[in-house]
Amino acid sequence: MKKFYQMTIDERRNSLQAEFGCSEADIDSLSGVPGLTEDAADRMIENVVGRYALPLGVARNFVINGREIAVPMVIEEPSVVAAASNGARLAKAGGGFQAEADASMMIGQLQVLGLRDMNAACAALEAEKSQLLALAAESCPNLIRRGGGPADLEVRSFPVTDAGPMLAVHLIMDVRDVMGANLIDTALEYIAPEVEKISGGTVRLRILSNLADRRLARASCRVPAETLAFREYDGETVLSRILEAAAFAEADPYRAVTHNKGIMNGIDAVVLATGNDWRAVESGAHAWAAKSGQIRPLSHWKKDPESGDLIGTIELPMAVGTVGGATRVHPGAAAALRLLGVQNAQELAGIIAAVGLAQNLAALKALSTEGIQRGHMSLHAKQLAAAAGAQGLLVDRIAAQMVRENHISASYAAELTAAAIKESNHVS
Ligand code: MEV
Repeated sequence: MKKFYQMTIDERRNSLQAEFGCSEADIDSLSGVPGLTEDAADRMIENVVGRYALPLGVARNFVINGREIAVPMVIEEPSVVAAASNGARLAKAGGGFQAEADASMMIGQLQVLGLRDMNAACAALEAEKSQLLALAAESCPNLIRRGGGPADLEVRSFPVTDAGPMLAVHLIMDVRDVMGANLIDTALEYIAPEVEKISGGTVRLRILSNLADRRLARASCRVPAETLAFREYDGETVLSRILEAAAFAEADPYRAVTHNKGIMNGIDAVVLATGNDWRAVESGAHAWAAKSGQIRPLSHWKKDPESGDLIGTIELPMAVGTVGGATRVHPGAAAALRLLGVQNAQELAGIIAAVGLAQNLAALKALSTEGIQRGHMSLHAKQLAAAAGAQGLLVDRIAAQMVRENHISASYAAELTAAAIKESNHVS
């Protein structure tokens, strides 16, 4: 039986229908047909002149909390979907990923300036906390009906800043299954006049914080050492090399940033496929990684002293929603969410963290052994063969030959393609 990556695009679509029960309409949406309409695009952002397509691939082999999941990924970079599938295959051998996420607590900030008495303002705001939370609740009746709403209010003080003494009043809200930016910003603007009255200051900025550190997602996996063996590398060797690679990222910020970039390759691709705000997730992730004062890896790897298995963990803020925003207007995003089969935003957040961990596992394994160019090169070779006019199976044959002979160039692709076409004309 053909593996997913060996299938034609149509065969892959059929297989998603057969395996995951995707509807015809969802397959069309994932195919980009008709996709985001021009009218919908024009209502989404300003000054629209068109729409911009990117490849949507599906990573396979993911087992998360015991459930087999096909993961839609939107990304322009070759090898990312293959690497995610690869990392997921390794984790599957150890039972797959365990993933979870905190409740969807978002933080909104009010900047309070012009205070005559900071301490008195802090005390007054603390004393009126329940009144302010009740007021904030008035701004979001639908959220309250869905079981969410304002949960807490905290006051942080900055006695010395370039703009004088300042308070940051944090409104913490459970936004349930949406990303939450609109809900938070509305509630902040609603309570700002009351905060001014209580504090005696002036409220200036009223905006959510992208450091969503009350909304963390976590994933872990266990990989039996023997599963890591490939080509001339035995499992124990690969495992210890992965640990060495992880130690490099723990020690050196220059490496940690690249290590995390690889994680974000997977995370952003799912965030984008599901219509979520990847800039929000990116900024939160990097701030979280730097919380100790030095940028550190978002994932950690160790060897289980008892079983000898490789164990990976990841934790990062994950402000994503399953309703609202682009998920409502982009048919591809809605279909991607249905393909994932997620019930709520917390489940989606956990899955995304697991994809980041899978991506990292595959990258560390490749980087610490044969390097990543081999994988990149075979895709590059396919692109050259296709550009030279090869079609269908001929693309794979020519690419494989160029990789085997370690001679990958546009001119060699053209030469091999011309020869193959001539040969087939001759035969027919
Ligand atoms: C490339 O997009 C991502 C990697 O650089 C990640 C890493 O180095 O861990 C391969």
